[in-house]
Amino acid sequence: MASRVTAVRGPMIWFRGDPFLSPREDVFVHESDGLLICEDGIITASGGHRELAHRLPAGLTPTHYPDHVISAGFIDTHTHYVQTGIIAAFGSQLIDWLNHYTFVEEQRFSDAGYARRVASAFCDELLRNGTTTALAFCAVYPQSVDALFEEASRRNMRIAAGKVLMDRNAPDALLDTPRSGYEDSKALLERWHGTGRNLYAITPRFAPTSTPEQLEAAGALWREHPGALMHTHVSENTGEISWVRALFPERRGYLDVYDHYGLLGPRAVLAHGVHLTRHERDRCAETGAAVSHCPTSNLFLGSGLFHVHDAKDSRHPMTVGLGTDIGAGTSFSLLATMNEAYKVAELSNYPLDSVKAFFLATLGGARAMGAGDRVGSLESGHEADFVVLDPRATPLLAQRTSRAEGIEELLFTLAVMGDDRTVRATYVAGVLAHDRDTPSASA
Ligand code: GUN
Ligand code: ZN
Repeated sequence: MASRVTAVRGPMIWFRGDPFLSPREDVFVHESDGLLICEDGIITASGGHRELAHRLPAGLTPTHYPDHVISAGFIDTHTHYVQTGIIAAFGSQLIDWLNHYTFVEEQRFSDAGYARRVASAFCDELLRNGTTTALAFCAVYPQSVDALFEEASRRNMRIAAGKVLMDRNAPDALLDTPRSGYEDSKALLERWHGTGRNLYAITPRFAPTSTPEQLEAAGALWREHPGALMHTHVSENTGEISWVRALFPERRGYLDVYDHYGLLGPRAVLAHGVHLTRHERDRCAETGAAVSHCPTSNLFLGSGLFHVHDAKDSRHPMTVGLGTDIGAGTSFSLLATMNEAYKVAELSNYPLDSVKAFFLATLGGARAMGAGDRVGSLESGHEADFVVLDPRATPLLAQRTSRAEGIEELLFTLAVMGDDRTVRATYVAGVLAHDRDTPSASA
């Protein structure tokens, strides 16, 4: 079969390494007139148009986006597709918010039809926001997981997701058991992990809603399938941390609960980590467990301020990505998430610059998911998931970006002022999947 070749041209940025740890000139690539050639969903060439134009197949004219910025697609390292309907729920912090809103909405996902409709809207919203990969919580019901993977497969998106494990401290209708949780997760993992672009994540909700027996079973499942991801929450809210201490008095702290049950390591993504201690951060770095920084959620629920400079301290750097944490988070946009991450960092007097912010939203997130060799970069050999950003998306943005001096200021302005309107187009595996201006052209 003839291979499918596509190409785009325009200003481009991407990463070859971590700008928190290496000089940016070594790891940050900016082509003012770049060319990206993709073959069967894989980037086969990326660089300057002048240098690469001769590699275009005869007759293929690249889609040209002059005056835009082409970046690797955004990676959302922590979200809940089943909470799409409860964004902006008023008035409570974490535990009350879970009880009043979340645990009510998630029960609706026992209905496969409802799950399918929300999963479809969720995937479309990701693409409208330039997010090509997400690591998502589903609900406790296996059919809620099938719904998301089916919708992701229809769009050929690289999505990681899993069935929530929870066997205590929630309404009965949302509880599984250590045995049923293990067996349902195993069956889903075997059905979906590595099927197409799908990845399975073993997903204990958080320590308070799992018994020791369930965490033990989750650890056993991960040992049997070490290529899968592990996805949970940690140290988001101070009340939650006290609760974990009361539930697991024999453990040294919240992180130690997961450590004890074998739930830390590469491909473990822990959402929030706002209140992790220095020792706990070191332990994450040592084991390879990553943290998903979710600033819009942390501000919305009043959880606290994540210190990204401590997490990325070059003496013991952790792997960090950005997460929207829908529906405690308030936006699907990784641009909006970078904006809030900047403000949270400012509150501890750390200027999170645009190069670092875009790294967290792309290759940093991909690495957190153990997929940094496949997505999150425009480097040749990566999968051709990318986003085309429009610096003139609104009159105000156009006015401001016209004064930007250089790519770093332009990226900063896009991060601080951008949202879904800024996403001109999103490509998935080399194919146009969302086109802001001609929606009917989308795949
Ligand atoms: N901790 C346990 N469950 C959740 C959830 O659904 N959202 C957030 N933000 N934190 C949690
Ligand atoms: Zn969450």
